[in-house]
Amino acid sequence: MRTLFEQERHKCVMFSDMSSGEMVQANQFVVVHGDEGLLLDPGGHKVYTQLLAEMPGVVPAGNIRHIFLSHQDPDIVAALNGWLLMTDATAYMPAIWARFVTHFGIDQHFVTKVRQIDDTGGKIVMDGYELLVIPAHYLHSAGNFHLYDPQSKILFTGDLGASLGVDYEVVDDFDSHIQYMETFHKRFIPTGKAIAHWLDTLNKLELDIDIIAPQHGAIFPDRDSAAKLLQWLGGLECGLDLL
Ligand SMILES: [Fe+2]
Ligand SMILES: [Fe+2]
Repeated sequence: MRTLFEQERHKCVMFSDMSSGEMVQANQFVVVHGDEGLLLDPGGHKVYTQLLAEMPGVVPAGNIRHIFLSHQDPDIVAALNGWLLMTDATAYMPAIWARFVTHFGIDQHFVTKVRQIDDTGGKIVMDGYELLVIPAHYLHSAGNFHLYDPQSKILFTGDLGASLGVDYEVVDDFDSHIQYMETFHKRFIPTGKAIAHWLDTLNKLELDIDIIAPQHGAIFPDRDSAAKLLQWLGGLECGLDLL
């Protein structure tokens, strides 16, 4: 567990070592504000067991009141049923995926505990504190959101900015880190047009970004590396651009 931010009643932590066996490495993040916890992209069943065991080191599991699902992939949503059974949390997910995700077996909680976010995004409110749900469609999923935490200034970007095969949690040499992102982005991000649209959205929102935290691999821990990532993404040809 790594603490990314801690100030007064607000805390953000990352778990990066819960993927085992053949599963792709994935990060799980928890934001705590006051007494409430928000879990981001919780992952599958094996991760669920470990995360539940370690959660009390951050916040009591029963205090997880919000679960954010950036998109529909198994490394994001597979254990949602368990979390909804164990907690009183509300899960937030892209509306276009809601009827597909129910194949993971959350039928009984679907009406009461799942909030469908429409394409324009919105907010998640924790104890009066607001986090921003930012549209990031086609990065990579057709219905995809990022989450921005204004107090920590962390932008959680799901699969965007992801790296595979790294043995470190934090990027300190951006140029040498590119090799671990390139293959993934060229295949999984459908087109540079989607990136350009997203960069335009960030500019309009005038987000102040200190950290960029993707769901796989190392995080971009400061303003310099975050800016370099945005610049690299802005010039990237990927997906359909390369067909
Ligand atoms: Fe994904
Ligand atoms: Fe992923």
